[in-house]
Amino acid sequence: MKKLHFATLFAGISVALIAPGAIAQKAAPSNADAVMKASFKDRGQAKVDRLDQDETQRLCSQYPEKRPKDVANKIEKLNLALVKYPSDGKLLGDWKEGEKIAQSGVGKQFSDNPANPSGGNCYACHQLSKEEISFGNIGPSLYNFGKLRGNTEAIQKYTYGKIYNAQAYSACSNMPRFGHNSILTAEQIKHVTALLLDPNSPVNK
Ligand code: HEC
Repeated sequence: MKKLHFATLFAGISVALIAPGAIAQKAAPSNADAVMKASFKDRGQAKVDRLDQDETQRLCSQYPEKRPKDVANKIEKLNLALVKYPSDGKLLGDWKEGEKIAQSGVGKQFSDNPANPSGGNCYACHQLSKEEISFGNIGPSLYNFGKLRGNTEAIQKYTYGKIYNAQAYSACSNMPRFGHNSILTAEQIKHVTALLLDPNSPVNK
């Protein structure tokens, strides 16, 4: 009897879990957008227009796994053209400020004050300094980044551009497009670039 009860209970749960998926599958792609939009609402700075895809996101959704080389090239070219380098030509800020930004995960949520600066949350995905032992590994370790790559003009430009718009160098990257999406300011990106490249930064110790 007990077994039967379990089985009945389980059947009930799986129906409940499967049903929403079945509905979504039946909806045509254009309807799926509408269904999604209808189930969210603007809250503070988190607006429903975050669901609107740009050309890059549309292409990445179209090819979620393997994408043809020409599509990847197109995405990277498009995003590289969108990188705005600072007008003063200086790409390195203060690594100490950069470390604070890398540590901070605040910003962009409905409950955050949009007047305050956002963090970069780099440690959520990367190892950076050796002292910080709490880090994620979705991205590669950046420990000794500057020591390994050097600090040439070309490396500075790559690092700033990568942080500004990760997809300029890696189509459909999971890394946020910090400058492109106005998560970090140019000044903040300079500080984080210094965190990665300054020989005195703990990243390079
Ligand atoms: C949500 C996860 C995530 C966050 C947050 C994130 N990254 Fe990344 N990052 C990645 C992934 C994944 C890669 C590897 C794929 C790629 O190159 O885009 C990467 C690659 C990089 C690279 C290129 C490494 C190389 O070998 O050339 C740099 C530099 C970098 N990240 C810096 C940063 C900095 C600085 C921050 C914070 C401002 C940051 N990342 C935040 C996921 C993340």
